[in-house]
Amino acid sequence: MTAKATGYLADTPLILGMMRLLDHPELHAPKTLAAWIESQLERGLDVFDHADIYGDGECERLFGDALAAYPGLRDKLRIITKTGIVLAHQDTSQWQTKHYRAEAEHVTGAIDRALGRLRVEQVDTFLIHRPDPLMEAEAVARALEEAVSAGKVRHIGVSNFRPEQWRWLHKNTDLPLSCNQAELSLAHAEPLFDGTHEAQLNDRLRWLAWSPLGGGKLAGHLPNDLLETARAQTGLSETALAMAWIHQIPGKPIPVLGSMNEERIKAALEGCRSELPRPLWFTLLEAVRGQRVP
Ligand SMILES: NC(=O)c1ccc[n+]([C@@H]2O[C@H](COP(=O)([O-])OP(=O)(O)OC[C@H]3O[C@@H](n4cnc5c(N)ncnc54)[C@H](OP(=O)(O)O)[C@@H]3O)[C@@H](O)[C@H]2O)c1
Repeated sequence: MTAKATGYLADTPLILGMMRLLDHPELHAPKTLAAWIESQLERGLDVFDHADIYGDGECERLFGDALAAYPGLRDKLRIITKTGIVLAHQDTSQWQTKHYRAEAEHVTGAIDRALGRLRVEQVDTFLIHRPDPLMEAEAVARALEEAVSAGKVRHIGVSNFRPEQWRWLHKNTDLPLSCNQAELSLAHAEPLFDGTHEAQLNDRLRWLAWSPLGGGKLAGHLPNDLLETARAQTGLSETALAMAWIHQIPGKPIPVLGSMNEERIKAALEGCRSELPRPLWFTLLEAVRGQRVP
């Protein structure tokens, strides 16, 4: 039996991450990007993941230009975006230091700036990108609530939070936290063994699994003979196996794929629709970790 999903984004097999959009200049013209988006919609992929730091806002801006050029396109898709990280080169202070800004005023401004770049009136989900030790949870919760009541944001959530961190934010608001966007792949499986996974299930946060292919690092980790045997048994490629491996986890984490390559997206989607025999699930894990489960 495959894991069942209910609730937030339960109808979505795969989210398309836009962090690498600047690596694809061939897609930057609004017409070309809109056609690329349409082709993803045709295969049933309608959720796109952004953040204000991706390309220093340029990824959201390019996406927004494509949406603005094709009225009606926006209504066919769902947008996730986030704020809370300031990269060193973005820090205008004398310190030029990477830091976090889960700060009410910053969050409110970041939502408006994201709406402006994306050229939309509402984002479907807004996330706090990283836990911030200086976060005043009550003030941030109010900022998020105000954005929701103003219709600027539909769902709120977090990213890279540990259980006690999301619980503290949640304690300060009656709004549900929809998700935790956190790393998960065959190359990063620790949260499945340290209680984080069960905490997410228990608190009904959907796991949006970033870098499901290890950001490309997974390639080469799985021995060829294992991949060939697995392909003979399941018909799945390496990319598809990595996705099936994630999708089979209870609560159905949704991979946030970074590839914009058609063949890779197709393979990923095939994986999301497949199920692995349980011993193969563990064999893949063991091959990447280099050790058996105890
Ligand atoms: N919330 C957070 O803190 C956070 C952090 C990081 C990322 N994210 C989100 O997650 C999304 C995905 O992140 P990601 O891009 O690191 O994920 P990913 O899907 O694991 O990695 C995609 C990258 O790996 C390359 N790749 C995959 N398989 C390969 C292979 N067999 N050989 C060579 N290259 C291969 C892809 O190249 P091709 O383009 O050639 O396919 C692409 O550059 C981002 O776009 C972003 O939306 C969120």
